[in-house]
Amino acid sequence: MELTQNLWERYGFSDNPYDTKALSLSRSASLSVEAAYIPRAAGATSANLLTNFLRNPGGGRIVVEGDPGVGKTTFVNFHRQQWEAAARHKLISPPGEISVREGWTERDLLLNLLASLSARLRLDLGEKDFARNKLLTEINAIVGVRAEDGSGLSASLTLFGFGGGLGHNRSKSAKVGELTNEHLRDCLQRLIALVKKRGFAGVIFHLDNLELLGRSNIAALQKFFDAARDLLQEKDAYFIFVGNAGMFQQVIVPLPRVRSIFFDMPVHLDPLTLAEVKAVMERRYTLLAVPNKAWIKPVEDIVVESLYQTFSGKIRYVMNAITSLVSHLPDSYARTLSLEEARTLLQGIARSQVRSLLHGAEEAVFLEAAALGRFTNTQLATRTDKSKQQIQKYLKSWLALNIVAQREREGRQQFYETDPRFAVLRRDVA
Ligand SMILES: Nc1ncnc2c1ncn2[C@@H]1O[C@H](COP(=O)(O)OP(=O)(O)OP(=O)(O)O)[C@@H](O)[C@H]1O
Ligand SMILES: [Mg+2]
Repeated sequence: MELTQNLWERYGFSDNPYDTKALSLSRSASLSVEAAYIPRAAGATSANLLTNFLRNPGGGRIVVEGDPGVGKTTFVNFHRQQWEAAARHKLISPPGEISVREGWTERDLLLNLLASLSARLRLDLGEKDFARNKLLTEINAIVGVRAEDGSGLSASLTLFGFGGGLGHNRSKSAKVGELTNEHLRDCLQRLIALVKKRGFAGVIFHLDNLELLGRSNIAALQKFFDAARDLLQEKDAYFIFVGNAGMFQQVIVPLPRVRSIFFDMPVHLDPLTLAEVKAVMERRYTLLAVPNKAWIKPVEDIVVESLYQTFSGKIRYVMNAITSLVSHLPDSYARTLSLEEARTLLQGIARSQVRSLLHGAEEAVFLEAAALGRFTNTQLATRTDKSKQQIQKYLKSWLALNIVAQREREGRQQFYETDPRFAVLRRDVA
């Protein structure tokens, strides 16, 4: 086997057209929002809502929510890019998203806002002017801004209390632990003033994946919002919080003081339509085609359609499945896979995943569960001739392995669902 790093070369692509990372704000990325974003037609209302939110002068707070892998991060990135590049009142925005971690206080948020915004300004100003600016060098000494990725701060929490600052800044730096929140807040205000002096109307902070913190622990997330409430009202700062479907209702609405400072409703994102998903792929095929070379589709369009049904439209799962397919093909294979071939291969991959985790009777029962997709203990017991106690035991182990998740309860019935990676084994889609 030839050891080249491009699995996609044989199809004529310079990179994976089914890459599932969120589209990047950076223009030089092979898949940037600027080039690869497909506008959501059905989501015109969601796009309008976010646009109108950002049209309110003076700052604000809003929640963007939806199921996993529907395109939330990409949606927010697209709007950030638009407001920075094409708007009349430009809003600057740090390139990376900020991930809220468990146990964050107002201070942690403050440090992260400082780090990410000053990293962005560093790119805007260039090294020389950055080094000449007193405020920026002071903030740099506090949070240790790294220029490379603009995300700042990953090192700063370890510096916390140890006199932050990196390299030659060390001697000049104040001890972070000694700085009051008021001082840090003052730095943020001066930083935003600097942004405005440079011609921007404000700044957008994108806080991503709040469900990582809040899904299992709503109280932790509420505590965070309560603590950050005052900071979130900083003038000319726009905060976009991204989370799971229902986050606004579960987390924000029960807190009247917090709710009162939020945009009155969340932006809810549905999965892209089939036509949009197809447009995403077509765009990527052309963007990633090696110049002056012919390219071929790794899978027939009908495979995309079928996977779209299988995964209820969630584009992330559709693309992961195709990447998985291609990764399992022999090296010499460079034809377009038909629906039959793709289905057989994907089912084979899913079955071998099951086999690597479970054995014997348990394996057989799980395959039946996967064929049902969504089921109750009783249903599965009936179909497999096992006792409900036995199924209960299996369920416990499957939940621990994360191959089954608990779903809704209807009366006395608890529903379960096998993980999306086994969806190709479902009877109703096969
Ligand atoms: N409108 C779009 N145009 C082009 N590509 C898109 C669009 N929406 C989503 N994608 C692609 O779909 C994939 C999933 O999108 P994204 O990561 O934004 O989803 P998400 O909802 O943030 O997922 P998660 O819940 O895991 O955070 C990415 O590869 C992204 O590039
Ligand atoms: Mg995301």
